[in-house]
Amino acid sequence: MFVQRNDVRSIKTYFQDRLKEQFSTSEIKLIVRECVCRRLGLSFSDYLLADNHLLSESDLLYFRSIVKRLSAHEPFQYILGETLFAGIELVVAPGVLIPRPETEELVEWISQEFREKKNLSIMDVCTGSGCIAFALEQLLADSHITSMEVSTEAISIFNQNKALLRSSVHLLQCDVLDKKYWELIPNDSQDIVVSNPPYVLEKEQGDMNQNVLAYEPHIALFVSSEDPVLFYREIIRNAVSKLKRGGKIYFELNPLYATEVIYLMKDADLVNITLRKDLQDKDRMLMGQKP
Ligand SMILES: C[S@@+](CC[C@H](N)C(=O)[O-])C[C@H]1O[C@@H](n2cnc3c(N)ncnc32)[C@H](O)[C@@H]1O
Repeated sequence: MFVQRNDVRSIKTYFQDRLKEQFSTSEIKLIVRECVCRRLGLSFSDYLLADNHLLSESDLLYFRSIVKRLSAHEPFQYILGETLFAGIELVVAPGVLIPRPETEELVEWISQEFREKKNLSIMDVCTGSGCIAFALEQLLADSHITSMEVSTEAISIFNQNKALLRSSVHLLQCDVLDKKYWELIPNDSQDIVVSNPPYVLEKEQGDMNQNVLAYEPHIALFVSSEDPVLFYREIIRNAVSKLKRGGKIYFELNPLYATEVIYLMKDADLVNITLRKDLQDKDRMLMGQKP
């Protein structure tokens, strides 16, 4: 046996010993608690008293496989198959980007600005798991949301989330860089266009963590270093005519290219352009309004 005893206490020690090079002690405590509670169906308070709880052979193999996957730098969210985003549980799997806290900040910004409004029309461009669309659907009552996404893997996960959340978000499977799909959206119809497009430069790969690089989809992360603002330019070019007067376009962005995207918004005659920092103090979110 790879643990001294077949009980929860030994599993805690096993996780700590095997993962201490990769995670802090407090991170390991959270990880092991999550795994044990899910596997054994315990509440967090039951868990506090579960040290002597005996484990079956299959439980032990399950915990060992989790440690193995974490040691291989697989993101914990993929191992669990889900994550929490803006208070909602979403399915995630390797075909889709794991939603990030910065994106929750973008959702919060939008929901604060529009919470008094009803019957909003919203587009979430490059939707991935659908995290932005589904969170806005819950936060902004009666809104009509269209999500755009090209990746078949991402769309399959989006559809699982849509079913689990009983959502009415409409999906347009399309390449957002292709103008013909935008022509399906009526002009002057949208209150909000929001996008978190791929924005990591291919040349930034060297600075990235192994767990992101090896497991998360490159189509969701990277844009060519030759044209870092490609998605922003095309989305602005196509989306502005879709906005109502007074409608707003929001982006999450690479702090290195905030200035370029501001210029793109100015060239498109957007007004009230506002740049916001994320909690890491990085220029991360941008809003422009159609006059
Ligand atoms: C940075 S991820 C964002 C996903 C999700 N909105 C989020 O915030 O977690 C970018 C998404 O854009 C999609 N994507 C990449 N190129 C695209 C294209 N040309 N047309 C439509 N979607 C695209 C990727 O598959 C990925 O799901």
